[in-house]
Amino acid sequence: MSNRIPVAVLAATGSVGQRFIQLLDCHPYFKVAAITASDRTVGKKYGDACHWILPGDMPDWVRDMEILPTSPDSVSVPLAFSALPADAAVEVEPAFARAGTMVCSNASSYRMEPDVSILFPEVNPDQVNIIPIQRKLRGWSGGIITNSNCTSTGITVALKPLQDAFGLSKVFAVSMQALSGAGYPGIPSIDIIDNVIPLIKGEEEKVESEPRKMLGKIVGESIVPADFIVSAHTNRVAVVDGHMVCLSVELKTPATPEQAIQAFRDYQAPEISRDLPSAPNPVIVVRNEADRPQPRLDRLTGKGMATVVGRVRTDPLFGLKFVVLSHNTIRGAAGGSIYNAELLVKLGYIKK
Ligand SMILES: NC(=O)c1ccc[n+]([C@@H]2O[C@H](COP(=O)([O-])OP(=O)(O)OC[C@H]3O[C@@H](n4cnc5c(N)ncnc54)[C@H](OP(=O)(O)O)[C@@H]3O)[C@@H](O)[C@H]2O)c1
Repeated sequence: MSNRIPVAVLAATGSVGQRFIQLLDCHPYFKVAAITASDRTVGKKYGDACHWILPGDMPDWVRDMEILPTSPDSVSVPLAFSALPADAAVEVEPAFARAGTMVCSNASSYRMEPDVSILFPEVNPDQVNIIPIQRKLRGWSGGIITNSNCTSTGITVALKPLQDAFGLSKVFAVSMQALSGAGYPGIPSIDIIDNVIPLIKGEEEKVESEPRKMLGKIVGESIVPADFIVSAHTNRVAVVDGHMVCLSVELKTPATPEQAIQAFRDYQAPEISRDLPSAPNPVIVVRNEADRPQPRLDRLTGKGMATVVGRVRTDPLFGLKFVVLSHNTIRGAAGGSIYNAELLVKLGYIKK
């Protein structure tokens, strides 16, 4: 624990920022050396500025840490975890990358840039090879690696074994997304109790594009998306954590539910990603019960890093359908970023 890498958490006070603080508590590779937030909060102690919303107490070591400005002039570290809103990330993340920091980001600002990977160690670790290309094209000594949007996470993990075994043609997705996905304080309680909101702005476009990029390949100096089509409906529901998605999938080679279940169960992360501290094992947990997965019961499977699949059955329109559950602020955000950073350390992109 003595030679842990000093890291910053950018936007440490929000829904995702708090998950970073929680998951980095006693992390074997990383030690939080700096925390930042907006100008409203700079100069305050974390314990005073942050309204802690996670189960379990705020770690003691962070209570008295001072919140710094979100700028490389104030924070100099080899690795920054970014929980910035997209509009702030547009300027700030490249500034850190230029200053030599590797940024592992949750913001959507750079996800779809052709020289930026939406990295997923259990799915596409080879996309780290875009980093030297990004550094060359942008003149950075650091870099930006992103997480996917928190709904695309579970979808992509579940599609990967199907892509490998049968090929993918079409995906139809209907999400039921948790409240914590909207940040804190998020949606007013009066709008969501006893209700479902059938619009999450910008979300359908993300779900229709990000899984294709994550399942794509580097060609030349760009990441080229995989060639299947996704149609998505995204809905906000009155669940605290855990995004559930109903998927109907048309495969290039049709498969029975039993063959699909076997593919899910047999799926293993590529070898390079398996022994990292945040690696889920198994990557996919298939529930046999007719009424699972459920967010409240299943979101912490594999400490919130596993993807849970259930209700695998025949679909009269597309061939195969099933339900996927993934923890949005753990696998879909902070936990995913930390897993990405662990892989970058292993591959020498971040030095201890
Ligand atoms: N929630 C999820 O499940 C999830 C999943 C995947 C990705 N994401 C993405 O992660 C990011 C954070 O989401 P969230 O849910 O944590 O949001 P949130 O709860 O609303 O928190 C926003 C955070 O950003 C800080 N902030 C706001 N404006 C800033 C600025 N100009 N400069 C520096 N810091 C600023 C806030 O600090 P103050 O305390 O000073 O206001 C706060 O720490 C977003 O890009 C979101 O799209 C979220």
